[in-house]
Amino acid sequence: MCGILGYVGLDNAVDVVHKGLEKLEYRGYDSVGIAYQQNMKVVIQKEKGRVIDLAPLLKNKNSNIAIGHTRWATHGEPNKLNAHPHCSNTNRFIIVHNGIIENYQKLKVEYLSGYDFISQTDTEIIVNLVELFSLTMSINEAIRKTMSLLEGSYACLILDKKNLNCIYFFKDKSPLLLGIGKNGITLSSDITGLVGYAEQYVALEDKTFGIAYANRFYFYDIIGLKLEPNIKSVQVSSSEIDKKTFTHYMLKEIHEQPLMIRSILQKYFIGDEVNIPLKLINKMRKCDKINIVACGTSMYAGMMAKYYFEKLCSIPTEVFCASELIYSTPLISKRPFFIFYSQSGETADVLAVMKKMKKQKFPMLCITNNTESSMGRLTDFCLDIYAGKEIAVASTKAYTAMIVVSSILARAVSGVRTNLKSNLKGVSLAMEKVLNNKEICLGIAKDIVNEKDVFYIGRGMDYWVCLEGALKLKEISYIHTEAFPSGELKHGPIALIHKDTPVIAIITQEGTNRITRSNLTETISRGAKGFVISSKGLSLPEDTFIIPNVAHYLSPLVSAIVIQLIAFYTALLKNNDIDKPKNLAKCVTVE
Ligand code: F6R
Repeated sequence: MCGILGYVGLDNAVDVVHKGLEKLEYRGYDSVGIAYQQNMKVVIQKEKGRVIDLAPLLKNKNSNIAIGHTRWATHGEPNKLNAHPHCSNTNRFIIVHNGIIENYQKLKVEYLSGYDFISQTDTEIIVNLVELFSLTMSINEAIRKTMSLLEGSYACLILDKKNLNCIYFFKDKSPLLLGIGKNGITLSSDITGLVGYAEQYVALEDKTFGIAYANRFYFYDIIGLKLEPNIKSVQVSSSEIDKKTFTHYMLKEIHEQPLMIRSILQKYFIGDEVNIPLKLINKMRKCDKINIVACGTSMYAGMMAKYYFEKLCSIPTEVFCASELIYSTPLISKRPFFIFYSQSGETADVLAVMKKMKKQKFPMLCITNNTESSMGRLTDFCLDIYAGKEIAVASTKAYTAMIVVSSILARAVSGVRTNLKSNLKGVSLAMEKVLNNKEICLGIAKDIVNEKDVFYIGRGMDYWVCLEGALKLKEISYIHTEAFPSGELKHGPIALIHKDTPVIAIITQEGTNRITRSNLTETISRGAKGFVISSKGLSLPEDTFIIPNVAHYLSPLVSAIVIQLIAFYTALLKNNDIDKPKNLAKCVTVE
């Protein structure tokens, strides 16, 4: 995780890097630091805390060149000492690094025995190796030699005190983009860091290094061959990353979902015909099994996708947790097809599986919100979920967008004409109605905010939404929340129910309506506080939130809004930092 940003050019580099780090803060936010040039010297400022905490130290500071870092601690606790940038022993080189060096202890012993290390980070090894090799080689060679020794992942920016007109950069596995602007060059972990300062960009390939000056840049591969950059235009606008009138990004992103569905329909339908590449459809039709690989919320979206591929296309489908699949490869069928779900397109666990399956030449598709990401570039096929930039760490609109795109893909692969398009329009309207009644979720939040545990229960699709509901609630409210298939309660978890334990049942499916209600009643008989989120046709007047009816296989898209709002309001009542919950980061680039 962590975000890195660098700038060299005519604008004030201190401002560019500080503002850019704010946009990258979703990648980690436990400490922050920046290095810039002043009177041909390098000034370093660091803080334990947020990017905003650096503001007083950077007031009225001006520079042509700067590098900065916002950290999610891996090696060494989050404190000022471990915050980046880090310096080499003679202070000649200054580095910021995103990633993990797995063999740093070995390198320390083999190459850097006489060196002093101030922090507990693996990063100091990199900068000192560059310094060591630069004693006998050019900087370019020293960096290439260093890269050849590093195992793990890295995206690094380096300043050389002897030449403060340029930034050295190099990467493997961690993302790094170079932005080309009228006034200078920006380097950033993601595209949002470039917005406002670059009209074009280059996404660096793995094992690339280069040098950026204010008006030019050079790329090389690890053996020093010059590379031709693949230049693309920056498509993200500043308005996309603006909070607008909302107090929180999460609330804004929850509200964006009805409109988002309509724009996904515009992208994936031409009239009533689904617009998905035929080559992809044919490939999927030929497979004997679909393997869905993802983490967290994206994995829960994948569970809905499994339902669509099995029910609509009759293709057996299994959902895998990426971090498990890496180390225990299951029996693979004769003609498998892999689908990787990832909002960021950078999640290390998912990427690792993707690389493994790529080596075996299995056909693959990535469904992502970031088609220019590492996954987007590695895969055979890529479908954009068109959710728009998601900034709050807790994913909301990406989850529903993944489900919508999966339903459209399944419809295309099945070749069966359905009224999916009009049904999805119905979902968009239903979502709006839920949002218009959001105070009901505030009411539920008030009832659960002081409890130690919360349980979500449901069956089938409703259970999959429960999993997402429990994840959302625990990650931003910090209340212990679990989801259970309602029938499983009596096999153990019901022992956890005591007086006033909140149990939230989701009931939107005809076949399981009655039985889930009975399971909820069993908990209420043991003292639980019961809440019911039900679809109109299946509701009882006393239910807590009666959501509008939509096609039964799309109802999770509507109940998702309810569970997202419950989590949001509970965290709000607890005064938590909703958009940046503790210990988490938006882009999980470490395994
Ligand atoms: C939870 C959340 C995470 C992510 C997970 C995978 O709100 O956002 O569980 O879903 O870290 O991330 P992506 O989708 O970027 O691969």
